[in-house]
Amino acid sequence: MPFLQPVTDTDLERLALDRVVPCLLNYGFFYVDNFLGDLIGHCVLDQVKEIHNSGLLHDGQLAGRRYGVSKRHIRGDKIAWVTGTEKGCEAINFLLSLIDKLVMFCIGRLGNNNIRERSKAMVACYPGNGTGYIKHVDNPNGDGRCVTCIYYLNKNWDAKENGGVLRIFPEGKSYVADIEPLFDRLLFFWSDRRNPHEVQPSYTKRYAITVWYFDSEERAEAKRKFRDLTAISQDRSTS
Ligand code: OGA
Ligand code: OGA
Ligand code: MN
Repeated sequence: MPFLQPVTDTDLERLALDRVVPCLLNYGFFYVDNFLGDLIGHCVLDQVKEIHNSGLLHDGQLAGRRYGVSKRHIRGDKIAWVTGTEKGCEAINFLLSLIDKLVMFCIGRLGNNNIRERSKAMVACYPGNGTGYIKHVDNPNGDGRCVTCIYYLNKNWDAKENGGVLRIFPEGKSYVADIEPLFDRLLFFWSDRRNPHEVQPSYTKRYAITVWYFDSEERAEAKRKFRDLTAISQDRSTS
């Protein structure tokens, strides 16, 4: 089925300049509802459900993998990484192309950040067994990730009953921001220490797709450091 395209480049440019950029600069996060519209949003949801039902999701990883048995108390999601070009990911690919365009229109306006690439997309499901993701920072130590972008896929979500709220604790502020994972909602926030956040226990299946945009300098530096570290540990193991 060919996709309808309710979102034009001009719409995306307006959204970027009028809302995404000012909100990120002033508050550190931004979200917009009805990003794709019902029809295409449903196509994305169907593809995500299909990935889940095909058994392609595995436990989310933790940096270091030193948490062992209690990991599920830290992070209870099941994930898969997709590029969007896989068979059965056409709608996801379309979503990613729109988010990329939106981010392109923000480039040069987000302070000193220079965004030129992003991660693959992480398709995630919290199975609804009361797990979430404890308070954390996506990029506490300069791994290159600059903006976190999450697209939520949950119809008829009632946070009182279903939980699953994303709570952001903006650094140095006395307030928190509670963001419900509502169907067709697109969220952006700075990935660094400015935005500690948690996913509160979810009592219903909760789907989302996340991509991380990289700051090219920080990313290059992080890769350099990682190479140095790898070289050092190889030196040690061979000497
Ligand atoms: C994250 C992350 C990696 C993974 O959640 O910030 O990098 O494998 N996850 O799940
Ligand atoms: C993550 C994360 C938030 C959400 O995967 O790092 O914080 O609302 N997810 O799914
Ligand atoms: Mn996170």
